[in-house]
Amino acid sequence: EIEYFFPVEQTVAVIKPDAIGTKDEIIEKIHEAGFRIAARKETTLSREIAEEFYADHKDKPYYEQLVQHMSSGPTYFMVLSREGAVDGWRSMIGPKDPQEAKNVDPDTLRGQFGTDVLKNAVHGSSNPEHAKQTISRIFGELSFSRDGSVSDKQED
Ligand code: TYD
Repeated sequence: EIEYFFPVEQTVAVIKPDAIGTKDEIIEKIHEAGFRIAARKETTLSREIAEEFYADHKDKPYYEQLVQHMSSGPTYFMVLSREGAVDGWRSMIGPKDPQEAKNVDPDTLRGQFGTDVLKNAVHGSSNPEHAKQTISRIFGELSFSRDGSVSDKQED
């Protein structure tokens, strides 16, 4: 008998300061959706780290309030592992505007826990490369086993 596996990948999920009060509820939904939380860290971002995290948006009119919001209180960073984690997590959070998210699917996390486009409860990496960058910035160099847990073995 041959078993086929799709590779487990990693994404970064962040509970933003506006939704930190609903952290436990969000974590429960993450587990229900079959993600493994491989690493986690509650941290209040400095202005500098928040700027770096959203560097791709620095020319946007909302950049200043975005950086201000992300450094305004505790955030909860998680490394999620699952098959198709990047796209799976993005579809679970929904579009950036919580009103639109609610219309698309009331079960999306932004639909349930978001307030407006700035205070939209959660973040998800947009691609595996971004996920890798954020993991090393927030958690340091981690390597992962095939089951998606953090491995203490060093990469060759
Ligand atoms: P974006 O990368 O477009 O969305 P996503 O979070 O789904 O990847 O935008 C990043 C963040 O910037 C978004 O989560 C909230 C903030 N933002 C605003 O505050 N106002 C805006 O008009 C937009 C487009 C984004």
